[in-house]
Amino acid sequence: MKNVLVISASPRKGGNSDTLCNQFISGAQEAGHEIEKINLRDKDMNYCRACYYCKNHDGKCVIKDDIPEIIDKIIAADVVVLSTPVYFYCMNAQLKTVIDRSVMKWTKIANKDFYLIATAAEEEDHAMEGTIKSFRGFLECLTDVREAGLILGKGVYNAGEIAGNLAVALAYETGKNI
Ligand SMILES: Cc1cc2nc3c(=O)[nH]c(=O)nc-3n(C[C@H](O)[C@H](O)[C@H](O)COP(=O)(O)O)c2cc1C
Repeated sequence: MKNVLVISASPRKGGNSDTLCNQFISGAQEAGHEIEKINLRDKDMNYCRACYYCKNHDGKCVIKDDIPEIIDKIIAADVVVLSTPVYFYCMNAQLKTVIDRSVMKWTKIANKDFYLIATAAEEEDHAMEGTIKSFRGFLECLTDVREAGLILGKGVYNAGEIAGNLAVALAYETGKNI
């Protein structure tokens, strides 16, 4: 049994990437894992100020919002799923804000599997490149973490268009096989 954390960054509840998160969760539940989903749209989040207070204060952040708790949950998880809509060829600002704030304890994010879920309106592979690159850039900074899978929904614009997309079954199967 693994401790799985799913972070959904879309502002659209029931949108395309959020639907893939829910499919992943269904599969992981089916396999008996323990899952927590965090919807960033419900969270109070602020940008990293690069004050480096955390560096000399055991990872404590000066900003009192919901992100320190999210970072602690990432540290505690065996499996982390980062999910985002593609915005201007990159992950969205909501997810990037969490990643930037992980500077408070980034050396403690170790020994776990990461998955990326992303959805984009365009069909072309290059629509995903910037998002995959920034996901990999984050992982590259961490200790003993693995890129365990990419679940990409292309050619989906309006919320709900993901229905019937191959990525839906892939998300379920991937969640089931973590
Ligand atoms: C601000 C913004 C920027 C976007 N930029 C892109 C883009 O660069 N490439 C693309 O293919 N789709 C782009 N889209 C479309 C979304 O990626 C697409 O609708 C996606 O399925 C949304 O996922 P969601 O339903 O999970 O929010 C953009 C949408 C928004 C709102």
